[in-house]
Amino acid sequence: MDRFLLGQNAIVTGASKGIGYEIARALLEAGASVVLCGRHQADLDAAVSKLGALTSLSDLSSRYKISAIIADVSNYEQVETLFAFADRQLGRLDILVNNAGSGVFRPVGEMTIEEWDRVIGTNLSGAFYCSRAAVERFRKKEQKGGWIVNISSLAGRNPFAGGAAYNASKFGLNGLSEALMLDHRDENVKVSYIMPGSVDTGFDGKAVAEKSEWKIAPEDIAEIALDILRKPGRTLVSRVEVRPSRPPRK
Ligand SMILES: NC(=O)c1ccc[n+]([C@@H]2O[C@H](COP(=O)([O-])OP(=O)(O)OC[C@H]3O[C@@H](n4cnc5c(N)ncnc54)[C@H](OP(=O)(O)O)[C@@H]3O)[C@@H](O)[C@H]2O)c1
Repeated sequence: MDRFLLGQNAIVTGASKGIGYEIARALLEAGASVVLCGRHQADLDAAVSKLGALTSLSDLSSRYKISAIIADVSNYEQVETLFAFADRQLGRLDILVNNAGSGVFRPVGEMTIEEWDRVIGTNLSGAFYCSRAAVERFRKKEQKGGWIVNISSLAGRNPFAGGAAYNASKFGLNGLSEALMLDHRDENVKVSYIMPGSVDTGFDGKAVAEKSEWKIAPEDIAEIALDILRKPGRTLVSRVEVRPSRPPRK
């Protein structure tokens, strides 16, 4: 196994399930220490114990740390608590993965203010709050920058009926990612974003009946995130689009 992140530290938001869980696993397997967050303690506990039991991590067990804290990224105070916890657990921060995401799919005329606020608050404001806190740490004199990986969506490029809040949040996240990259590139802060199509998760609490034959596996998104981080310092993969290779015909 390639431990190219040995000694590095990461925060992954929304890491109790789905894509975030797989990214946390891949980061740990590459040698990083990881702080996970989500809104439900039982799911975080289950994720931490599942990760801790992976045989792929057994030879690394004294060299990495996994820990988790409840934090709703749409709430700025909880984001501050998350980063203060990560400071205590990890010391320094090298990588932030803004993965936490929420989806409400409803026409504008039928969408409540609370639903709109939840989607924009999680997918866009949450990414801003966490990125701001990460940049503050990456810019410290003793630190030589850091990396932010944002999990966006092809919905950040392709609007669809019923997607107003989700589309707006992911179009916004793409814009935020690119502007953030330009703002802090000269301070060695790298920003990348991944735009997946349909991924085989129980996104936003949807029950997963059985493994999909055609959707992207969350492990594949994790592998792409790791490929981005593996690039030499001089090169930045700033945007990646990912599609199922053989979706069903419409
Ligand atoms: N699945 C897809 O087809 C797909 C496609 C393209 C992009 N994406 C994006 O990929 C990301 C992950 O999606 P997924 O499919 O892995 O979803 P998922 O299985 O529902 O997992 C989402 C994770 O985020 C956490 N979360 C949700 N809201 C949060 C909040 N406000 N603060 C902190 N954590 C929060 C959830 O835990 P709690 O509920 O306990 O907080 C969970 O750990 C999202 O940004 C999504 O938009 C998904």
